[in-house]
Amino acid sequence: MVEVIQGIKAEVGDKVPVGIRLCGLELLDDRGGNTPEESLETFKIAEEAGADYVSITIGWHESARSVITRDVPMGYWLPVARRVKEVVKIPVMMAFRIFTPELAEEALSRGDIDFWEVCRPMIADPQLPKKAAEGREHEIVPCVACNLCFSRLYYHQPIMCTVRPTLGHEGEPEWGYRALPKAPRRRKILVVGGGPAGLQFAATAAKRGHEVVLLERSAELGGSLLLASKVERSDGELLRFVSYLKGECERSGVELLVGREAYPKDAEGFDLTVLAHGARYLKPFPEAIIPKEAFSPSLTPGRAAVIGGEGVGVALALYLSSRGFQVAIIEEAPRIGRDVNPFYLWRYIQILKKRGVQILTGSRPLVLDQGKLLLSHPGGERALEVDLVITALREDRSSELQAWMAHAPQVLLVGDARRPRRLHNSVHEAYRIAKDL
Ligand SMILES: Cc1cc2nc3c(=O)[nH]c(=O)nc-3n(C[C@H](O)[C@H](O)[C@H](O)COP(=O)(O)O)c2cc1C
Ligand code: SF4
Repeated sequence: MVEVIQGIKAEVGDKVPVGIRLCGLELLDDRGGNTPEESLETFKIAEEAGADYVSITIGWHESARSVITRDVPMGYWLPVARRVKEVVKIPVMMAFRIFTPELAEEALSRGDIDFWEVCRPMIADPQLPKKAAEGREHEIVPCVACNLCFSRLYYHQPIMCTVRPTLGHEGEPEWGYRALPKAPRRRKILVVGGGPAGLQFAATAAKRGHEVVLLERSAELGGSLLLASKVERSDGELLRFVSYLKGECERSGVELLVGREAYPKDAEGFDLTVLAHGARYLKPFPEAIIPKEAFSPSLTPGRAAVIGGEGVGVALALYLSSRGFQVAIIEEAPRIGRDVNPFYLWRYIQILKKRGVQILTGSRPLVLDQGKLLLSHPGGERALEVDLVITALREDRSSELQAWMAHAPQVLLVGDARRPRRLHNSVHEAYRIAKDL
């Protein structure tokens, strides 16, 4: 390191500041990594070698702890920066879950850091500094710490951002990174459903100049994100995204009607109806409840079987086990969480195992009779005693199309209503279709 710093400095002279990123906390105690004290030494050595600033990182890919996922509170790693600042005089910078300008401002004014490095929040919104400087913080597209951007790199895929579909298309005006071009013809659009797909669609279409009305059945906007935000601890990232989308709708003139169930007759008078009211849950047994019901605080903890082990099933198991339910996940595939980002999945499985959740893969529910759930299982059949069965099996809403088409000249399905998938699929699909209208 000393030779590298000195070699570069010798080449570039004094006009270019030369800094180095070093790990301030390795989180590798289980495999003999540097201790925090040893890590501090590396910063001192860098300063002595002539580094003009240091950038602090936390953990390595091998660290068996969460570092940048939602369960790590924003600002959690700032004490590491404070320790580094105590041992060096050169400027210290750090990213790692410093997600808002307000938090960065506090850290800077306390002297925890000298510069706010910011990675994912600026992938989500490269205009973050400008918006913050102009007092438009509420317009910042908030990063939800999902790490889709990161994981795409591991799979050698072009980078994508869940909350910003324009990523990678900044140079293509029709993608509307700076502003969406106005549509040649103004259309009247009805959007059914105020979840992420509906909100994203409505805001994007309205920005193109269309007249948009959105109907949401429940009293609150957010759809599946409202439930997802209750699953594990976070700093409200998912709800911040809902607030942002709602703000986008309001700023672009969408008429938002909440607490208003939509019926096919409502489509009359509109040029286009967009069904974005989420997936439908399949009940393998009439007694099975749907996820929304499983989040009711009035449910008494007992033995619960979650049917379906993709992301929704995993989330339900996390939530119910946190409430003291004894949970079993029943999944037909050989493993659970196939659609969950690997940054989260390893930890979710760790938590589920710690809480004693049974993960029954290769299993299919057969019969539910008087609290006994019979399963087909690789070893034959097996019965589980259950107090509650919750379905996490989703299907699209294409069966509803015909009823709407009787009243509407054009009907589109968007998001989970079109095909149940992950958040980024819904948001991107809604944006892509709406921007081309
Ligand atoms: C898509 C992506 C690529 C990254 N590539 C690098 C890299 O090449 N080198 C590096 O030191 N850190 C890299 N990082 C880590 C970031 O620099 C940053 O330390 C991390 O995302 C935590 O900061 P944040 O909470 O502001 O995102 C990358 C992060 C992302 C999301
Ligand atoms: S993909 Fe997810 S983690 Fe990455 S910048 Fe976008 S919202 Fe943030």
